[in-house]
Amino acid sequence: MKTPTLEVYLTPAESVDALRAEAREGLTATPKWLSPKWFYDARGSELFEEITALPEYYPTRTERGLLTQYADEIAALTEPEILIELGSGSSEKTRLLLDAMTARGTLRTYVPQDVSVTALEGAAQQVGAEFPGIDVLGVVSDFTGSLHHLPGGGRRAVAFLGGTLGNLVPAERAEFLSGIAAVLAPGENLILGVGLVIDPAVLVPAYDDAAGVTAQFNLNVLAVLNKQLGANFPLEDFRHVALWDAENQWIEMRLEALRELSVHIDDLDLEITFAAGEQLRTEISAKFTEDGIAAELASAGFGVRKVWTDQDQRFALLCAQRA
Ligand code: AVJ
Repeated sequence: MKTPTLEVYLTPAESVDALRAEAREGLTATPKWLSPKWFYDARGSELFEEITALPEYYPTRTERGLLTQYADEIAALTEPEILIELGSGSSEKTRLLLDAMTARGTLRTYVPQDVSVTALEGAAQQVGAEFPGIDVLGVVSDFTGSLHHLPGGGRRAVAFLGGTLGNLVPAERAEFLSGIAAVLAPGENLILGVGLVIDPAVLVPAYDDAAGVTAQFNLNVLAVLNKQLGANFPLEDFRHVALWDAENQWIEMRLEALRELSVHIDDLDLEITFAAGEQLRTEISAKFTEDGIAAELASAGFGVRKVWTDQDQRFALLCAQRA
């Protein structure tokens, strides 16, 4: 087996710098906010893996079902020599694509990119062992900042699965999708997984599960701030909130202060106060309609070739080609 290579474009030091800057900006803003990438320290990545197995959290298993059913078709449509996966996490579902693409004999290289070094190291090792015929080149970066590092030298497909596109607001999505289009050559493909707009009675519990794993995942960001920035957030004085924003068509996760409190962030020399009931936004997870995502892709320079959805219309996989 070839040893997977890991390229690091986001060192732990750079990541802490970025966290510092964002914490200063987001925690002094009204309303307070942080972006979801800070969830994914080793513990947060572990908790996310637990979320994917929860009965309420349908996206992962639904997308896995679609990949199981359609991976051969996706491989035939895209025939990549290089598969680049943005936000690859554990690469668990990607194996279905790798199976189909190696079976066709075209694939030479798999490039998983993730913000979590721990997740990426594990995934790159495992994929390297399971697919000895291909090179694995892991890229540590955040997905919005990684596009200019992506390798070429063969026909590429970019996979962006799991619905992670939904972490971006529309303007950020436009910029990000155009950025992908800009690095791809005409004819190369994007394989995109997105959650669809569904009944909030199904949607909200997926982000507020009965076992409280999502609550732990959300609260973990405060532990990240405590550890990385020398803050003293009392985790027990916050509660997890998940709500459906019908106007923006996204799930919003927040952390609500249960009492008036103040937090000191040593490394920023900053004191933050929360009123009782004040909420800090930690994530948006946008959901899409088929027409809506097709229009966003078209504006970015992609033509949708095929859309696959599950029976309940909860999740969509799209194959889009750079025009
Ligand atoms: C990894 C961004 C796809 O939005 O569903 C899961 C993250 N947050 N539960 C999602 C998440 C709360 C997840 N993504």
